[in-house]
Amino acid sequence: RKVMLSGIKPSGQLTLGNYIGALRNFVKYQDEYEMLVFIANLHCITVYQDPKELKKNLKDAVALYLACGLDPQRATIFLQSDVKEHAQLGFIMNCNSYQGELNRMTQYKDKVAKGETNLTVGLYTYPCLMAADILIYDADYVPVGEDQKQHVELTRDIANRFNNRYGETFRIPEPVVPKVGARIMSLSDPSKKMSKSDKGDKGCIYLLEDLKSARKKIMSAVTDNEACVRFDPENQPGIANLLTIMSSLSGEAIETIVERFAGKGYGEFKSAVADVVCAELERIQARYNEIINSTLIEETLAEGAVKAQRLASRKLEKVQRKIGLEFRK
Ligand code: TYM
Repeated sequence: RKVMLSGIKPSGQLTLGNYIGALRNFVKYQDEYEMLVFIANLHCITVYQDPKELKKNLKDAVALYLACGLDPQRATIFLQSDVKEHAQLGFIMNCNSYQGELNRMTQYKDKVAKGETNLTVGLYTYPCLMAADILIYDADYVPVGEDQKQHVELTRDIANRFNNRYGETFRIPEPVVPKVGARIMSLSDPSKKMSKSDKGDKGCIYLLEDLKSARKKIMSAVTDNEACVRFDPENQPGIANLLTIMSSLSGEAIETIVERFAGKGYGEFKSAVADVVCAELERIQARYNEIINSTLIEETLAEGAVKAQRLASRKLEKVQRKIGLEFRK
């Protein structure tokens, strides 16, 4: 069976963007592929996190994985830092990547361009650790949202370079980006990505958000003066974003939704979007509440770590032998 792997970095509460762009697809594919899903807690600390808050976010993220339908019987679910081989291969990836490549990564480049200071070295080399996450399991497919595609492409470059230098070692992974919902935009500024780091933002819906508050954010989402529900991301980015959210959650085609709301006002349309979003959140939150105080979280991570570590250690040994780090066996 082909291997699929992905991770989420819970440096805050998980968002509707994480769900639509990534998490939902992990669930969808767990029967089709050998699925490995992890919590990228090392990636979290590339930006300082309050330890108490980080712990809570990690636990919530595991509970949400399960609440959204990931099944520990079918998928290997684990914490990145529980499998120490990730960091070890990460260093080897650092040594097989170039500064020029990392400088071109848009997530990092944007932060530099915005004049953000005190960027950590960990943040800079973040894509190398991500490459290690993927390559250590010989993943065939990596389901991600649009913003992570570039990192998977870098992973392919690093893997190809390594294979050329040291001989066939890594499988070359492919990003899997959803056709609808790969980039959910902020409700308050549809020119920006919906992001968990926008604290207190009216533009972001969290999976554990109170339903009333989620509805309110959708009802006050920024739109336009066209007064026509149409899919035109260029001229009507707010409406296009709401159509995307609705379509990806309901499974209804965007054209069908557009037809249904022909001649109707934005208020009515937004209210329908809010119904769909709130129904989904309600379902997820009900499951989350059952799980969060159960032993399932610890059990899942303990089992996942053992399974993942077995695969990762075998691969790391092979890599070290190829490089010439090991001469005793
Ligand atoms: P992260 O935690 O920023 O995001 C997790 C996943 O959610 C997707 N996503 C979105 N999709 C659509 N619309 C949005 N507004 C939106 N916001 C986030 C992301 O594209 C991502 O798929 N570096 C990764 C975590 C990671 C990883 C990996 C992923 C670490 N190692 C190995 C895959 C394989 C990250 O920070 O994602």
